[in-house]
Amino acid sequence: MTFMTDTPPSDLGYLSGRDFQRLAKFIQDTCGIRMPPVKKTMLEGRLRRRVRALGLPSLSEYCRWLFDHGRLAEEAVELIDAVTTNKTDFFREPRHFEHLTGSTLPTLLETPARPGLDRPLKVWSAACSSGSEPYTLAMVLDDFARRQRGYRFEILATDICTDALAKAKRAIYPEEMIAPVPAAWRQRYFLRSRNPDEPTVRLAPSVRQMVRFGRLNLMDEVYPLDEGMDIIFCRNILIYFDRERQEAVLRRLCGLLRPHGSLFLGHTDTIAGMDLPVRQVAPSVFIRR
Ligand SMILES: C[S@@+](CC[C@H](N)C(=O)[O-])C[C@H]1O[C@@H](n2cnc3c(N)ncnc32)[C@H](O)[C@@H]1O
Repeated sequence: MTFMTDTPPSDLGYLSGRDFQRLAKFIQDTCGIRMPPVKKTMLEGRLRRRVRALGLPSLSEYCRWLFDHGRLAEEAVELIDAVTTNKTDFFREPRHFEHLTGSTLPTLLETPARPGLDRPLKVWSAACSSGSEPYTLAMVLDDFARRQRGYRFEILATDICTDALAKAKRAIYPEEMIAPVPAAWRQRYFLRSRNPDEPTVRLAPSVRQMVRFGRLNLMDEVYPLDEGMDIIFCRNILIYFDRERQEAVLRRLCGLLRPHGSLFLGHTDTIAGMDLPVRQVAPSVFIRR
């Protein structure tokens, strides 16, 4: 019997402490995502696929290529794509969507600007991943509009990850992903693939057209968007940033929200102790003062 000790899990080896530090700094400086030492194994796992795709022999050669051969700038998009966590679901944190139709939208209709009626309601999904969140918003708002004559809305969805954005635009998902969608809405808003070996669904063109996608890094000092959002969803992303960066992002989001506009954060996000121009109206839901 052979006992294998210290055998690398991959022929691509590991990251040295120095390479890990250099990568961690670049990642946090660029997209805000914290990379404490406990994430080293995770980072190695994520980068191995990329290193293979480039045909490089090891993680250390990849780092030499990045940092010593000046390839960091051109590789940044791929590197960020590799390190982002894109987990998302349709109707994730469903209470938010109940609050949206039961409180946020009717309350906004009572404000003088009557967003949705006197002008289109403007909604932004600020870390939209592969699209489940903005498409859930599209279905919810479309259903609301069916009961409210003349109701109009615009949905902008952004993310830093180009791979997630490409998936979002394609709007094709494994069939099991739409289990949380009400049955009647599955019929109304999705098309089924005819291939029984690959049970996928695709959002109907009418829903796809309701969402405009773009790449936006929440770390940027200025977001190149029109002011005057009525609703911003920024869920399950702030937890990856340190507190200083969280607060800076939240300030910029608040700067783009109209008075009476609503900000939806992830259930684990906290703004306690931050000086922001919002008041809380429900768990992780805030209104711009
Ligand atoms: C866990 S997903 C959350 C998706 C969705 N909001 C939800 O709650 O289901 C986090 C998303 O944030 C994106 N992200 C990470 N850093 C970002 C940044 N600096 N700017 C914009 N998006 C970022 C990731 O690419 C990922 O798609």
